[in-house]
Amino acid sequence: MTDTATDGGVRLRGEELSLGYDARAVSHDLTVEIPDGSFTVIVGPNACGKSTLLRALARMLKPSVGTVLLDGGPIQSLPSKEVARRLGLLPQSSIAPDAITVADLVARGRYPHQGLLRQWSREDERAVAAAMASTDVTELASRAVDELSGGQRQRVWLAMVLAQETPIVLLDEPTTFLDIAHQIEVLDLCAELHQDQGRTLVAVLHDLNHACRYATHLIAMRDGAVVAEGDPSQIVDAELVERVFGLRCRVIPDPETGTPLIVPAARQRQREHAPAPSLPAAAT
Ligand SMILES: Nc1ncnc2c1ncn2[C@@H]1O[C@H](COP(=O)(O)OP(=O)(O)OP(=O)(O)O)[C@@H](O)[C@H]1O
Ligand SMILES: [Mg+2]
Repeated sequence: MTDTATDGGVRLRGEELSLGYDARAVSHDLTVEIPDGSFTVIVGPNACGKSTLLRALARMLKPSVGTVLLDGGPIQSLPSKEVARRLGLLPQSSIAPDAITVADLVARGRYPHQGLLRQWSREDERAVAAAMASTDVTELASRAVDELSGGQRQRVWLAMVLAQETPIVLLDEPTTFLDIAHQIEVLDLCAELHQDQGRTLVAVLHDLNHACRYATHLIAMRDGAVVAEGDPSQIVDAELVERVFGLRCRVIPDPETGTPLIVPAARQRQREHAPAPSLPAAAT
């Protein structure tokens, strides 16, 4: 596996993209390559355009300028079912159809593999069972999705995307709502998918320490643009964190993995470096 993007080794790339919504421009001239077989993690402040980029890469949002290329061809010219066989997206928030059960929702992940001549099969059954087991939702199979806790629901949506069994998987904040053990479980699962099965994973994460531990390729964004990208151990330092998030911190080696561990400066130290507040004139 390589985490170096080469012309021959990039199935998914966005070229010179302008992205936005009606009058709101989010990104301009944004070029991104997702190295094949990588676990790429996208980080950046709220509203900087991470989800917008992921949507464009998954053909959910049409760039006003530029092209997303999947396997060398424009993604817009591929039929949606074909895209869904190659690429799965877990959006940041999704709404399940009323009263649908967990098993039925996860089974929808198999839709791209079905057709007029190819109805529900053992292969679909196996994929659904495997996806539910790996996300720890098997016991919830007959429950209604709208009656689950936030974390349970998040894992069910993840199971649906994994049941799709696509070589490329895009996950927008897959660990939101999850307790720390389930966060690690989901990230370990992603690492397994890319290491053992050679799948290409792209995840938006807010936890920088998780990002540094798991990413083979990190993309740091700000204001719709890529500020830095590469191996987290080579690009993440206090200066980058301050540039991207405006946060003072120390970066030390993670005692478990040696990857960068971000320790935010304590409140007192943040204040020492902040401009002195202007005080209202004392009343006399
Ligand atoms: N459907 C929409 N219509 C109009 N503007 C939108 C829409 N979705 C997002 N935006 C705007 O586009 C910008 C980028 O949003 P985006 O969702 O890509 O941010 P993000 O980096 O994913 O943030 P977060 O970390 O909060 O999820 C924001 O200013 C947001 O308000
Ligand atoms: Mg987002």
